[in-house]
Parts: sequence; structure tokens; C-alpha cells
Amino acid sequence: MRTKIIAGNWKMNLDYAQAMALVDGIMQMTDDNMRCRIVLAPPFPYLTQVEMQSKLRTNIFIAAQNCSDKNSGALTGEVSASMLRSIGVESVIIGHSERRTIFNESDATIAEKINRAFENDLQPIFCCGESLAERKSNSHFEVVKTQVAGGVYHLSASKVSDMIVAYEPVWAIGTGVNASSEQAQEMHLFIRNLVKEKYGNSVSQKIRILYGGSVNAENAAELFGCPDVDGGLVGGASLKPAEFSSIIKAMEKIS
Ligand code: PGA
Repeated sequence: MRTKIIAGNWKMNLDYAQAMALVDGIMQMTDDNMRCRIVLAPPFPYLTQVEMQSKLRTNIFIAAQNCSDKNSGALTGEVSASMLRSIGVESVIIGHSERRTIFNESDATIAEKINRAFENDLQPIFCCGESLAERKSNSHFEVVKTQVAGGVYHLSASKVSDMIVAYEPVWAIGTGVNASSEQAQEMHLFIRNLVKEKYGNSVSQKIRILYGGSVNAENAAELFGCPDVDGGLVGGASLKPAEFSSIIKAMEKIS
């Protein structure tokens, strides 16, 4: 049985006071008896405080939204995986579509970031997903296959078992138009089968595949009810404590 995960990607939102109020709210509305793992991905400046604030909770984990593909050096503005690990961060989102499109991150860069994460004991949350044009031209499976192959296939089976994939169709991110549960299940199964072909059945049964793209309190239960959807990567709705907690509770009812 795969541990379910609900991750909140705060992106570049909230000031410090708002960020701390959000953590407090989530902590009040959830508890450690929940089986599902809660992951919070605040902006870099709040990572330490969010980590300290949630320290006493056993099912809240902290993720960064990005890391450098390099170890250290003269790279003004960059943040390395080892720095993140040294302040208690446990995982890192890599290859989000906003990084791919706005910051031109290639599959090769993303693969290097995943390497830096593993070298520093950070669990990568690897994002993939097709654009609207790619879905319309029916190339979505090919696109996701290329992204998964480029980002993951160089890794050993044991590393792949430990990682998290987030399928996030670009047309569903921040649009209010989520993938249907059929579309999500179809792609999640496709990704799991890619992993199976490459690494075998046991690895494919261990890897967690989250769905992301306009998840909210209303659609969460249906999306999470799909057998190959192991949780969600939530953007906009993760900024509202009551809604994010409802999403966690929807997962909890299923798991
Ligand atoms: P959204 O974002 O939930 O606001 O669509 C998801 C994401 O980008 O991770």
C-alpha cells in the first residue's frame, strides 16, 4: 500500500505573516493520526520557519520548490540541494511546468537537479505533463514519456522506488479546469507502466504518482479515488487552510 501524499505548492505567494498563519491553520485543521503525508512547499525565505513551526508534527514534511543543478560556487541567486537539506528540508519539487516554460529548464537540467537532490538525501517530486496544444494533437503520451525518460531513466531502481512523480497537465494548472478522473487515471497508469517496463513491477508499485492541476475541495475525492492517483500537488487551493485541509481529508477518507 503506497502512502498517500498531499503536497501544497505555494509558488511565489504570501508574505511572512501570511505564510505562518497558513501553517498554523493547516496544523489546527489536521492531525498526526491522519495516514496521509502532508507536504508543504513554501518559498525559500520561509522554509526554516515553516519547518520549525511544524516540527512537532510527524506527518508534515517540508519541500522546496526548486534547487540548483550545481553543488556550489559563484552562482548568484541559486540555492543548492545541500543547503536545503542542511536546514531540514526533506524533498524538492523539480521540473515544474513553470520552471520548464518560464525558466527554460530542459530535461537534461532537470535530470541533473534530480541527481543533486538524491546526492543530498532530498526526495525529488518530479513534475511532468503536456500542454493544451500537445493534448489536442494527441501527443500527450509521447510528451510525458519523453519527459519521464529524460528526467528519470538514468536513475537506479532503488532511487526510482523512492521518488515522487507529479503528473500536472499544463492546461489544468491554475486554470480551474482539472483533468477528468478518467484522463488522470489513464495518464497515471501510463506513467506507472513506463516505470514497470523500465524497472519492473515492484518499482512501479512503489513509486508515488500525484495529480496536479486545479485540484480543489470539490474535485479532490473523485480524482483521488482513481487507483493510480496517490495524492495531489495542489497550488492555488493550498493557500487556503480550510480548503487545503478539506483536500487532505478527502484523501484520508479514501486511503
Ligand atoms: P494549481 O497548481 O493547483 O493552482 O492548478 C498546481 C501546481 O502548479 O502545482
